[in-house]
Amino acid sequence: MIASEAAPFAKTGGLGDVLGALPAAMSRAGWDATVVLPRYRGNTAGREIDRFPLRVGGYSTEIGIFEAPLADGARALFVDDPRMFDREFIYGEGTGDYPDSPLRFAVLARAALEHAVRGNIPVTVVHAHDWQGGLVPVYLKTLYSGHPVLSRAGVVFTIHNLAYQGWVDPDWLPRLDLPWHLYSIDQLEFYGRISLLKGGIVNAGMVTTVSPQYAREIQTPSGGVGFDGILRSRGDRLVGILNGIDAVEWDPMADRFLPAPYSADDVSGKRVAKKALLERYGLASDDAAMERPLIGMVTRMVDQKGLNLIEQLAGELPWLDAGFAVLGTGESRYQDMWRDLASQHPWKIGVRIGFDEGLAHLIEAGSDLFLMPSLFEPCGLNQMYSLRYGTVPLVRRVGGLADTVTNFDPSRSDSTGFVFDDFTPWALIGTLRWALDTYRDKDAWHRLQVNGMRQDLSWDRSAREYVKIYESAVSRGTP
Ligand code: ADP
Ligand code: GLC
Repeated sequence: MIASEAAPFAKTGGLGDVLGALPAAMSRAGWDATVVLPRYRGNTAGREIDRFPLRVGGYSTEIGIFEAPLADGARALFVDDPRMFDREFIYGEGTGDYPDSPLRFAVLARAALEHAVRGNIPVTVVHAHDWQGGLVPVYLKTLYSGHPVLSRAGVVFTIHNLAYQGWVDPDWLPRLDLPWHLYSIDQLEFYGRISLLKGGIVNAGMVTTVSPQYAREIQTPSGGVGFDGILRSRGDRLVGILNGIDAVEWDPMADRFLPAPYSADDVSGKRVAKKALLERYGLASDDAAMERPLIGMVTRMVDQKGLNLIEQLAGELPWLDAGFAVLGTGESRYQDMWRDLASQHPWKIGVRIGFDEGLAHLIEAGSDLFLMPSLFEPCGLNQMYSLRYGTVPLVRRVGGLADTVTNFDPSRSDSTGFVFDDFTPWALIGTLRWALDTYRDKDAWHRLQVNGMRQDLSWDRSAREYVKIYESAVSRGTP
């Protein structure tokens, strides 16, 4: 597997979580899995196992490959090229990418493939992720098309987010060692530019995305971000596989960030977490505050996550009978909105702008309700963590959220959360009020919690699906 993130070494969002857990799950399913990612600043894990010169376009460098073991016999390889990867940020400052990103991820792809060639590694499947991995299938089709092993490998490409398309100006082609004939409509060209994501989609043997519902949505004009036609034309090779969650990292019975363990059989430890969370944020934590529902949110503060719905409700949220515990970073307009709300209502609304793994766990455990009103959501992991932690998710019926949360229905025994349809502030606030009312019905709430906690969200279920995809990628070859 080749990707730009893998937890715990590098993570900005769900991609890191997935690549931190999927290799081990594939190992348990009988595959010999390796994930290759850049050796970013601060990563001192592993030992050097290879070193070689590499040229990409006019860029000459020396690559070191570092190896570190992962769980269940899987391993991580880090591509060391300080000029490319020893930088302050993983992608770039703020929400933008460093201007030489195409070269950075070309170096990642080429270094990974070169290491396999040099070591005669009998690669059966190459699995690349998101636009940063988009060049991998392209290089396999061009530079490595005559290689005895790599040319026969099955090629799988996973879209974690179609909205990030890896746009590049065409004059980058020679700088990435790519021939000009790739500047065509059935290859990387798209309305006069180059998309590295498209390169991955059209050159892979099998394309997956991270939930069945998102796989359907991206083949429609409203969900396809311009790529729906391309995806429809590849429909017979496109499959949605729901992500799992790392059941070791996210286990309320053994979570190092929680003050007390708990499980579906005894959720009392959850109250201890709520108290700790209220205190951590400096919110009121007396009996009245403990009885009041606490709404959690851990998110990138961007349009995708429905932050502008919340912005439209900013005047109303503080008057709900609920507290808020919010953690995230992103667009300054949303950060400022939350900071203002917190400073106006310091006893009820707690906000941390920043990235804090431990606090994310405490919010998942200590909140009563978890809010995820996404505009679109390829899969979403936080709602699954919420389910596992007995924190009832309130989500919009879109992408992976639709696939993982069942709307509350008092007459049914399998509901796990609250789901709204329309992307409007009225739909959100109406559903939120309904959820807060339901919270007072302790039995109904407890049933929602336990239903969620008992769901099978494991990676092993997803890994079985990936095994089938790997097998078809090998048997069907690339298009
Ligand atoms: P996305 O990848 O689109 O951001 P996901 O729900 O798939 O959304 O995954 C987000 C992951 O990143 C989760 O593990 C979540 O806990 C984590 N995360 C997001 N923002 C923060 C933050 N500010 N601090 C800590 N963890 C965060
Ligand atoms: C992307 C998506 C998110 C998904 C994650 C992991 O970041 O936005 O929905 O869960 O990738 O696949």
